[in-house]
Amino acid sequence: MKFFIGNWKMFGVPKSINILNKINSFYSKDKNRNKYRVIMTPPYTLIESYAKNFKNKKISIGSQNCYQKEQFSSDTAAVSPYMLRSVGAKYTLVGHSDNRGEGDTNAMLKDKVKYALKNNLKVVFCIGENKSEKKNKKTLNVLKNQLTKVLEKKFNKSNIIVAYEPIWSIGTGKIPTLLELEKTTIYIKKVLKNIFKKNSPAVLYGGSVDGSNVKIFKEIKEIDGFLIGGASKSSKKFIDIIKNYYR
Ligand code: 13P
Repeated sequence: MKFFIGNWKMFGVPKSINILNKINSFYSKDKNRNKYRVIMTPPYTLIESYAKNFKNKKISIGSQNCYQKEQFSSDTAAVSPYMLRSVGAKYTLVGHSDNRGEGDTNAMLKDKVKYALKNNLKVVFCIGENKSEKKNKKTLNVLKNQLTKVLEKKFNKSNIIVAYEPIWSIGTGKIPTLLELEKTTIYIKKVLKNIFKKNSPAVLYGGSVDGSNVKIFKEIKEIDGFLIGGASKSSKKFIDIIKNYYR
């Protein structure tokens, strides 16, 4: 099973649902539809209405983040996994580099994963090295740390997806070389197998994925799908990624 996950970041108002309606109608008729899943993560403000709209449809709705406590608390502006699930979210991203940059620590991320899973949200756990870590050849070490400090064997592996998003590639148009990405993805899966003591969860790539470079990524059989930022805000661009992947 492959995954095409769109992360809208700070984008969208109620009428932006038109974008998802178009993607959903392509997805429901696509001859390859049983080979993949489409998940969209709009901002918090839209999760409830979008989840209602797509309740019995092909697209699933997820959240871009969640707070590291389970249900209710006195943390201003925080939204818990329980609250997200109660309005129909099925997935949540955890550990996106934007949120790590705002101060999310490994301890916080571990609680986010734990409480999200406990509330039946599937977790898309994001990892990735920055430009200077890459330059100093620290990539594999950084990724190993990000994985082993947060994920534990006792977490239900089948509800976890890992998304590898090199920070230097997010929104820049820069992508890793085929060889680099293949090596990194194989390494990530090796670390995950070690953590879970069995098969690795799915591993996605994210960072400037578009309709033309997706053909390159397709060559790497270890990549189980994509986490798509910019191109997920246009139905045409998002659909082109899926079409070109299966072409
Ligand atoms: P872009 O596809 O815009 O590079 O964003 C990737 C990303 O951060 C998705 O979470």
